[in-house]
Amino acid sequence: MERNNELFYEIAWSLRSQVFDRIIQDGPKSIFDAVEKYNQFEVGHTLKLATSYPEDDPNNYHLTGKGVFTKNDVPDALVTQKARLLVAMRLALLQRIRKLIKGEIDTIVELGCGYGINLFLLDKLINKDKHYNFVGMEFSNSGRELCAKIAKIDEQLKMKVSFIDHQEPEIPEALQFDPQKTFVFTCHSLEQIAHIPEHYFEFLTTIGHTGANIEPFGFQSDEVLEGKEAHRQYMEHQKYNMNFLEVYEKSLANNVITETERDYHISALQDDNPSSFVSWTAVK
Ligand SMILES: C[S@@+](CC[C@H](N)C(=O)[O-])C[C@H]1O[C@@H](n2cnc3c(N)ncnc32)[C@H](O)[C@@H]1O
Repeated sequence: MERNNELFYEIAWSLRSQVFDRIIQDGPKSIFDAVEKYNQFEVGHTLKLATSYPEDDPNNYHLTGKGVFTKNDVPDALVTQKARLLVAMRLALLQRIRKLIKGEIDTIVELGCGYGINLFLLDKLINKDKHYNFVGMEFSNSGRELCAKIAKIDEQLKMKVSFIDHQEPEIPEALQFDPQKTFVFTCHSLEQIAHIPEHYFEFLTTIGHTGANIEPFGFQSDEVLEGKEAHRQYMEHQKYNMNFLEVYEKSLANNVITETERDYHISALQDDNPSSFVSWTAVK
């Protein structure tokens, strides 16, 4: 089982955690303030992870666990504007999810949440009275630790952080979900898995009766879409996901889920990796 993409994030979140340490030390006004400041840093810098090419495997680079942030040659005022725009674009993307969180839902779960940016922004969008429980599930230790550290900025936020492996998905014993009251989603995280398991949607419905996936799968469709071939090549090069749509369609055909929305081109948070969107409800 390939784990290079997981390893990349284990290192990347641990380096980004050091940036957050400085932001947290400065006493941010809120989690949103910390997220905005972090995004400014991210836009103003490029993270390069150090690699080595072992003699016995000269074609495959290996991550060494070290890395460096280099400052981009962009005026600070532009960095601030671009960072605000990126956060605004993400908020717009999350409005799609916000609209689906209604009725008796009181728990929102993201699988592959990284440092938790989507959950923190959803908190800003819908959680004025702190009604919702958030659960951030993530493969990397460093991502989970960082998410928990940021959540502590707001003592009222109800946030649990836990392990998930998309390649062998299971709900940890310490967590219990009432699917009728739980909304589950992924955002550019299944993308990291070249082939998700065939039963992935059966698993998702054991967490939430309703859910959504913001993932880059438009290129997997039969539709005529601009930039489709370039996107496929990018995904192949990154060893990113190739079977999301196939697994999803089978789950629809097998009556595991029914579709409520599908949209192939909803956002380009990253120019070379545009997001698509599906939302669904469990049949049983
Ligand atoms: C591109 S980041 C997206 C993070 C976040 N969802 C967002 O929208 O910013 C991909 C995330 O997927 C996580 N990931 C990679 N492999 C995973 C796996 N096998 N199981 C669960 N999460 C995984 C990475 O650690 C990383 O945090």
